[in-house]
Amino acid sequence: MMGKTQEIMCGIVGYVGKRQAKGILVEGLKRLEYRGYDSAGLAILQNGALKLEKQTGRVANLEGELDKRAFNGNIGISHTRWATHGKVSQSNAHPHVSSDGKIALVHNGVIENFTSIKKFLLSKGYSFESETDTEVLCNLVAYHYAKQPEVDGQSRFAESVRRTLFHVEGTYGIAVLSTDCPDEMVCARKGSPLIIGVGVGENIVASDATAFASRTQNVVYLNDGEVAHVTSDDFNILTISNESVDPIVSQLDWSGEEADLGDFAYFMEKEIFEQPSALENAMRGRFSEDDSTTKFGGLNVSPQEFRQMDRLLFCACGTAWHACLVAEYLIEKYARIPVEVEYASEFRYRNAPLDKNTVVFVISQSGETLDTLAALREAQRKGYRALAINNVVGSTIARESDGGIYQHAGPEIGVASTKAFTSQLLISAMLALYLGRLNDMSYGDGRRFVEALKAVPELVALNLKVNSQVEAIAKAYAQYDDFLFLGRQEMFPIALEGALKLKEISYIHAEGYPAAEMKHGPIALISELCPSVFIIAKGEVFQKTIANMQEIKARHGKIICIAPEGAEFPDGLIDDLILYPDCHEAVAPLLACIPLQLLSYYIARERGCDVDKPRNLAKSVTVE
Ligand code: F6R
Repeated sequence: MMGKTQEIMCGIVGYVGKRQAKGILVEGLKRLEYRGYDSAGLAILQNGALKLEKQTGRVANLEGELDKRAFNGNIGISHTRWATHGKVSQSNAHPHVSSDGKIALVHNGVIENFTSIKKFLLSKGYSFESETDTEVLCNLVAYHYAKQPEVDGQSRFAESVRRTLFHVEGTYGIAVLSTDCPDEMVCARKGSPLIIGVGVGENIVASDATAFASRTQNVVYLNDGEVAHVTSDDFNILTISNESVDPIVSQLDWSGEEADLGDFAYFMEKEIFEQPSALENAMRGRFSEDDSTTKFGGLNVSPQEFRQMDRLLFCACGTAWHACLVAEYLIEKYARIPVEVEYASEFRYRNAPLDKNTVVFVISQSGETLDTLAALREAQRKGYRALAINNVVGSTIARESDGGIYQHAGPEIGVASTKAFTSQLLISAMLALYLGRLNDMSYGDGRRFVEALKAVPELVALNLKVNSQVEAIAKAYAQYDDFLFLGRQEMFPIALEGALKLKEISYIHAEGYPAAEMKHGPIALISELCPSVFIIAKGEVFQKTIANMQEIKARHGKIICIAPEGAEFPDGLIDDLILYPDCHEAVAPLLACIPLQLLSYYIARERGCDVDKPRNLAKSVTVE
């Protein structure tokens, strides 16, 4: 393997203004730490000279070092890294500095043609301290800057970055400083998000608005292929092919406080308890006047067009893929429209034959997941209408989709998705209702459905009261190293989600299975050392699931069961029973999910894991 590092899911923050940059950059990095926490670095221009610090590990390590010496200056760039290739080391951390000492650069992405560029730069006398593609990019800016003539009314620095990017293949979000231009920052994006937070007498650039939402609500989302020249009082945007761009300043729809931890120990806990309001927000303004169906302003598909379609294809990754599986059950059940579900990472390369009247939906909390974005683009390339269910307003997926439904769940910072998932489930139920009402669902059934949806936030609030019971159960089970999660029908995706939540934050091996499939293999795992978590709904497979539990009990397996209020079980079958409120079938998966979130959260805490920053993970996976 080549020694290059690829910085793909990292966080960038840049500041130019009248205040001290250091504190603002460190605060921004802390807020972006969920994007990566392998190493962090910062460069500030102090009286025209670059001051640089990089540390492996968390932003707190960097902050500790920064406190040891003066770092004064009103302009700076910073980076928190999630390593995909290449080791975690100080030399691989960003910012990188050109060999002439003039240019400092932070980068997310991969420069694909860096080997040939490096050869060229070596022949021109540039030297390299690391094996990174980012250092090559940084030196290429220095090269173009050195040969770029001054032109009146044009920033020589911005022009040299633009020319650099003209020669670069790959993906990037970058922020760049030059010692010759101590009042200017240049940034650009292609395939990696970058947002300008527009302030008064200051501007902040970041990979995610969370970094600056407490300072300004005015944002400009850079598009792929755009280069921005940013000073404290102004910014200009050009495309790489030198066309000027009229920037659109939008408003964030959430405030800085929403991205704060408040009194909670972890963001995951905070976000679990925020679910009643997140779900309320997903429904706001989305019911018809007669409360018999839902309406979605941004779908851009007329009822007539929806009636023409024969099939839906849902694509996503991870937890959002589990939401797709629930959507499949709900839409097929209530709207009788066939639905297929694909992993976005598979769909993009599978060249699947699709029916000509298919509409594609992608689901993504961040709206930046690379595989999901690629699936969206592939569907559009084939001429299909591709819609998105997405939480982050202005994300790449939101902007590139042909229409969609915003989740309005507020910022989700914990790496393990919780409130975004339940909001995706609620929106899937709302969509099933909408499509059902376009087909055979009656007015009366529609009204009952709407009533059930409206009750969800309150039921979830009630449901969250199982927290101390679940905490006690978590204590009793935290030492087990293997778990099975089992459910049937629409509870099968919830079993998958329960297993994913547990494994990702507590590093316990957990598998989700359809309960009846268990006897075709996984039952071999059952012993007193491998507990099973059953997720159960009312309805026709209830008794069948009890039979599955008996198969486990006969093999000395412990059983935790998550069941609706009123469910009755044979004596001695269940070791620990957690009830969720009785509700409409369409929202039962959502309600059953809440105790599972709590279970994984409390088990992870019991095991002393860093819940919000699980090892090897990052929130937004913008890598293949
Ligand atoms: C797990 C989790 C991930 C994400 C996946 C897709 O808790 O959060 O599995 O669901 O990486 O992310 P988005 O929804 O941002 O596309």
